[in-house]
Amino acid sequence: MEQHDNHPTPASIMQIGTGFWASKILLAAVKFQLFTKLAEQPGMSATAVKTMLNLHCTDRNVYDFLDALTTFGFLSREGLLETAVYSNSIDTDFFLDKKKPTYIGGMLEMMNNRLYGFWGNLEEGLITGLPQNEAKHGENLFTQLYQDPDKLHEFVTAMGGFQMGNFMAFAQKFDFSSRKTLIDVGGSGGLLSLMVATHQPHMSCTSFDLSAVEPIANNTIRHFKLSDRVKTAAGDFFESPIPTADVVVMGNILHDWDEETKLMLMKKAFDAIPEGGVFVAIENIIDDERKKNAVGLMMSLNMLIETGKGFDYTFADFNSWAKKVGFKSTAIMPLTGPSSAAIAYK
Ligand SMILES: C[S@@+](CC[C@H](N)C(=O)[O-])C[C@H]1O[C@@H](n2cnc3c(N)ncnc32)[C@H](O)[C@@H]1O
Repeated sequence: MEQHDNHPTPASIMQIGTGFWASKILLAAVKFQLFTKLAEQPGMSATAVKTMLNLHCTDRNVYDFLDALTTFGFLSREGLLETAVYSNSIDTDFFLDKKKPTYIGGMLEMMNNRLYGFWGNLEEGLITGLPQNEAKHGENLFTQLYQDPDKLHEFVTAMGGFQMGNFMAFAQKFDFSSRKTLIDVGGSGGLLSLMVATHQPHMSCTSFDLSAVEPIANNTIRHFKLSDRVKTAAGDFFESPIPTADVVVMGNILHDWDEETKLMLMKKAFDAIPEGGVFVAIENIIDDERKKNAVGLMMSLNMLIETGKGFDYTFADFNSWAKKVGFKSTAIMPLTGPSSAAIAYK
């Protein structure tokens, strides 16, 4: 964002105010699988893209769409207008080609298909304090989402794409030397367990989640050929205790719920680990001054849209809850971008 010294400038006001244009241009390109197609066939002209995507707008609209993506750094271009040919940038070729295992567009697909529309009701969310999604009329979000196999699949894929970098960083940076077992509570597709098992060959991991996600996680575990050390356990953390382990992890779990439920889940994690055991929350932990981590603050508002009562929190908040539950000490480990691991030792 633009810096200024004492002179007012509208630049960042307009940049943020029009931010949804930029966002939607990228989300539309992902929806059209433009980057996947350009990875197969780099160097396409705008008219070839127009035909390939079955667009019925003017050629000018296509130039504008592709050139906007070029100015964002998502496409590279040689030539201009009629003579232009477009290819992926290094980043989009690596992360947004659906045929590569490094594809992280699942979260963007879900942003486009669900959250883009739901965020249109942010004002209503702020006025009523109610979620603005499938759970708008009081149902549990996960019960609602998981009734539809496509939405279930899309949600699990989105979660994986969003957290993969953090899981890889945590699996490599955390000192697992005195630990043998790990439970990932609300483990979704099982990626945290898989990353820990990959980087820490002495660790056995279990991904604990609602039964609906178990077949998807098991498929991924088979794909990674780690079935000997990564298992799934189906269960509901409201109904049952968390299975015991040396390390209990919750990735983007606490932020789904109100403070009372956060404390209940941390207490269940505390009960599941031995003396000296560790509880880890991997989230967009907001800085204590609430001045820097804009993504964490926006994610917190996303929880208003998604769950109504959920919210993201600072490390100071985490510390006070850990103390209440009885943990001895805490630490914070930065992971990727705005995310960290908040760690509590029993
Ligand atoms: C926001 S997702 C986070 C997924 C993953 N841990 C991550 O970091 O991306 C929340 C997860 O909690 C799971 N979940 C929700 N309610 C649950 C419950 N009552 N018992 C067990 N898991 C639950 C959901 O199925 C989902 O996988």
